[in-house]
Amino acid sequence: MSTSDDTADASDYETESVGVLVIGAGAAGARAAIELAERGVTDQLVLGKRGHGDAHTTWARGGINGALGTHDPDDDWAIHAADTLQEGHFVNDPGKVETVTRAMPEHLRELDDWGMDFSRTDDGEIDQRYFGAQSFRRTAFAGDHTGESLLDTLVARAQSLSVPYRENLMVTKLVADGDEVYGAVAVDLDTGQPTLIEASQVVLAAGGYAAIYDRHTSRDDENNGDGPALALDAGASLMDTEFVQFHPTGMAVDESDPEWEPWRGRLVTEAVRGEGGRLYNAEGERFMERYSPDQMELDARDVVARAIAQEVREGRGTENGGVYLDISHRERSFVRERLPRMYERFQELGVDLSEEPVEVAPTAHYGMGGVAVDDHGETDVDGLFAIGETMAGVHGANRLGGNSLAETLAFGAVAGEQIAARDPEPGTVPSTLRDSLVEPHITGLSTLANSSGDYTPREVLSDLQTLMWEHAGLLRDGDQLRAGLEQLEAVRNAADDMAVGPLGSRSFEFAIDVGFSLTVAETVLRGALDREESRGAHYRTDFPERDPEWRQNIHYHAADVGVTTTTEAVGEPSEAVQAALDEGHELDYHQLE
Ligand code: FUM
Repeated sequence: MSTSDDTADASDYETESVGVLVIGAGAAGARAAIELAERGVTDQLVLGKRGHGDAHTTWARGGINGALGTHDPDDDWAIHAADTLQEGHFVNDPGKVETVTRAMPEHLRELDDWGMDFSRTDDGEIDQRYFGAQSFRRTAFAGDHTGESLLDTLVARAQSLSVPYRENLMVTKLVADGDEVYGAVAVDLDTGQPTLIEASQVVLAAGGYAAIYDRHTSRDDENNGDGPALALDAGASLMDTEFVQFHPTGMAVDESDPEWEPWRGRLVTEAVRGEGGRLYNAEGERFMERYSPDQMELDARDVVARAIAQEVREGRGTENGGVYLDISHRERSFVRERLPRMYERFQELGVDLSEEPVEVAPTAHYGMGGVAVDDHGETDVDGLFAIGETMAGVHGANRLGGNSLAETLAFGAVAGEQIAARDPEPGTVPSTLRDSLVEPHITGLSTLANSSGDYTPREVLSDLQTLMWEHAGLLRDGDQLRAGLEQLEAVRNAADDMAVGPLGSRSFEFAIDVGFSLTVAETVLRGALDREESRGAHYRTDFPERDPEWRQNIHYHAADVGVTTTTEAVGEPSEAVQAALDEGHELDYHQLE
């Protein structure tokens, strides 16, 4: 890579000091900030990569789980935990699962008190719908815009507590010495100004890594692996990143049609199936009867996604490589009330969701793995926390729909409480670290900005996404994964030869994303190769069975060159959760008919 002459002076950065820095202004970051504020921590700062209130959470649709028992009074937190472990194929951390499921009924009530516009029953209770592979109706919702409503509620609450925010700042590096965190370097995406934010406690709530795949449900500029890559670089370890959830129903579109092409892979919420939507192949067969006669379309996401892929592979797919999702047997008024955003989206594309089927196919949706943390969300690096999709442990090998928003709230609150108990002091970066880490990093950013080369960051990112889709997708095998690792080197070489715009530009932002995505992609490929079994969303065609010996978590550590892995055994559920598992609850799909 060659560089331009206008390399900025490394001393040309601003410095700000706070007690707690929250990186990420989505639901997890906002909930942590609220907890801190409620516990009297005023010296905090929440950083958002986008405008205030505009985080990826707004794209979460179908709902948020908590055993309120609105319709099914037999439900309780232990059954919620049992479902989560069962569908996570028992590589979730039972303690973390319990933390989330125990806390959720209270968190839902708290959101209600804070004014969230939940959909309600005729009696005014918080309504709950079916979601895949859950024994009871446990998914609370606001139409099909639950994420938007949730974030609006949290932002309003944070504002009422005077939580300070800064928007349009991208964190490029954490300042840590491997044992302890001291802050972060961020670049202002409006002005290009680098800033060192010193903090004694740092919360990473920066999302996951599903956008390292070609077809995905994330916003293109988010979920590129920022959170996990920043943590790994700071000395924390990652866990189980090979478990990537492919949501069964992304939009399958005619890619040559400019009106439809931008919607490729975008989410068609599970709520469509939760409200009765049925899947048909191109021959008109309701094919889930063959794959899962009891749970049908509401079996776990990995099962439904693989079934759709198999139908398409065996020649029973639609023109655009998907299958049909049909909810036309429901009244239009019902569809509009329960699925308003989906109805509007398809209407704008000339399709009436209440009258005709839409084409869907699997799409990368969520990284179950992430940063390894303890029971409070703290990483191996003192003072560094990871929460929400950035952390690992709750979802195991396959996440239940509605559990991601639940995790953001539960672990946001847990981390906030833990940090507040430390009474955090304003942060100070030791001068040795400024010299050895902060200033070289800022010089490196300036070198990257305005560099010339043969590839744009967008092209490199796109090559990486194609590689991941082809080599570490829904079905994997050893040869494909090894070839993927080899090809990763070519993508790395292209990343060293990029033409990048000025500091803070869109091109610069994508160039930083390339680095994050490459780091996480390597862990996904390595873990998927190491894990010689099939479990949940990780399906190896050369090892198609679940292997009890592999009831382990894979940990990834930064090495001098690349990444090393170790494994660790998983803990056992508590007595209450084991009892719920032994009772063997299961969704009875046919109640929906
Ligand atoms: O389909 C959905 O609405 C997704 C929900 C989730 O992933 O939790």
